[in-house]
Amino acid sequence: MKENSKSKVLVDLLSKIEKREAVVGIIGLGYVGLPLAIHFGEKGFSVIGFDVDAHKIDMLIRGESYIKHIRMEKINEKIKEGSFEGTVDFMRLREADCILICVPTPLTEMMEPDLSYLMETTKSISKNLRIGQIIVLESTTYPGTTEEMLMPGLETDSLKIGQDYFLAFSPEREDPGNSKYDASNIPKVVGGVTDACLEVASALYSCITQVVPVSSTRAAELTKLLENTFRSVNIALVNELKVLANKMGIDIFEVINAAATKPFGYTPFYPGPGLGGHCIPIDPFYLSWKAREYDFATRFIQLAGEINVSIPYYVIERTIEALNQHEKSLNGSKVLVLGVAYKKDIDDERESPGYTIMNMLLEKGAIVSYNDPWIPVLKQTRKFNFRKKSIPITQEVLQEMDAVIIVTDHSAYDYAEIVKHSDLIIDTRNATNKIDGADVKVYSA
Ligand SMILES: NC(=O)c1ccc[n+]([C@@H]2O[C@H](COP(=O)([O-])OP(=O)(O)OC[C@H]3O[C@@H](n4cnc5c(N)ncnc54)[C@H](O)[C@@H]3O)[C@@H](O)[C@H]2O)c1
Repeated sequence: MKENSKSKVLVDLLSKIEKREAVVGIIGLGYVGLPLAIHFGEKGFSVIGFDVDAHKIDMLIRGESYIKHIRMEKINEKIKEGSFEGTVDFMRLREADCILICVPTPLTEMMEPDLSYLMETTKSISKNLRIGQIIVLESTTYPGTTEEMLMPGLETDSLKIGQDYFLAFSPEREDPGNSKYDASNIPKVVGGVTDACLEVASALYSCITQVVPVSSTRAAELTKLLENTFRSVNIALVNELKVLANKMGIDIFEVINAAATKPFGYTPFYPGPGLGGHCIPIDPFYLSWKAREYDFATRFIQLAGEINVSIPYYVIERTIEALNQHEKSLNGSKVLVLGVAYKKDIDDERESPGYTIMNMLLEKGAIVSYNDPWIPVLKQTRKFNFRKKSIPITQEVLQEMDAVIIVTDHSAYDYAEIVKHSDLIIDTRNATNKIDGADVKVYSA
């Protein structure tokens, strides 16, 4: 959509953004929304954070973080200054000039996009939409969501998109727990519904980082899905090769590290216990679902999904094999699972393969306990309710286990002690690679 000339509304909003007078409203203060709120605060904007979870808002107001790797000092300063607020009152969306949507986009039980959170948010914005606002969707979703779902939900007779208010899509690229990258050094891809929408969104994000404009919201939506599908497919490839390499008696990690010395045309990906987290196991299915509308089968996505889903089962097979070598059966064996977070050094266990592994161990009659320094208690999930607490790893605990499975390679673990005091270790992460004595006790899986 093209506009004839810059509206006064556009000029005023651009000027407010440039002078940091625009109020930024962030909807959904989770792993994505909270750090984003902090970054806009640091760049001099007044920020209002919105969430339906009153408990999170209460914690924020008390200056407490509910996400372990996010430090609260900066946000506390802003709260004291009065330039950061958290609220469950969505009527206050009217106060925000720039509204960024960071709500969950999970899958339903049938592995189809669950846009219920986004629909709820669209209603809240629509009730409070006013002249001079920009709305940007950041949640990961299929190409077309911004214009086919969000835009019709916002439409009114009195306000014209691209002139009175603006709409864009800009995918989040957060990498929780990776201190090398944050919102200030991760470029932001931006696509607008109109040229003016793109201009405002670009002006806003260029206050925090480098902006990569693309020609449409769909292109921006697909960019995010390409990035995550690329990871899913490559992880599936190394996961499949790991199974083969184990059969051949070859160390797949040695092979990957050797291949990674090639200075061009190769990017290393590492195998593990299966996919976890809110993105890689989920996002590609948003694309394959949308592709069906075009009578198109996304075969790579399907195959990668099948392989990655099979890997926790492989870990169980390897555990059974390893116990068998020790003349034990899994049924009745004491098994300690180390790590349930989906990756190291974070407190996020969403979609973690650790849960699937624990569930299968229990189904097969193992006596299962777990340790995770980041996850003291296992919460109820869509599929599982284990009611377990993390137990301390002591010499005695390790000695009494028939098997220890390393699911997440947290930095806090003392792998030398784990190897020293355990009888049998199933290592899904190559965490014990350089430890003395590991060669006789460790099975890679
Ligand atoms: N976590 C990541 O590393 C990551 C990275 C890139 C993209 N994403 C995408 O970003 C989006 C958000 O993910 P997240 O990990 O931050 O999720 P999250 O579950 O950590 O946070 C979402 C927040 O939204 C709140 N919420 C739910 N419904 C709401 C509503 N109607 N109004 C206001 N708040 C509401 C929840 O209470 C929660 O605090 C998803 O689309 C995800 O795919 C996540």
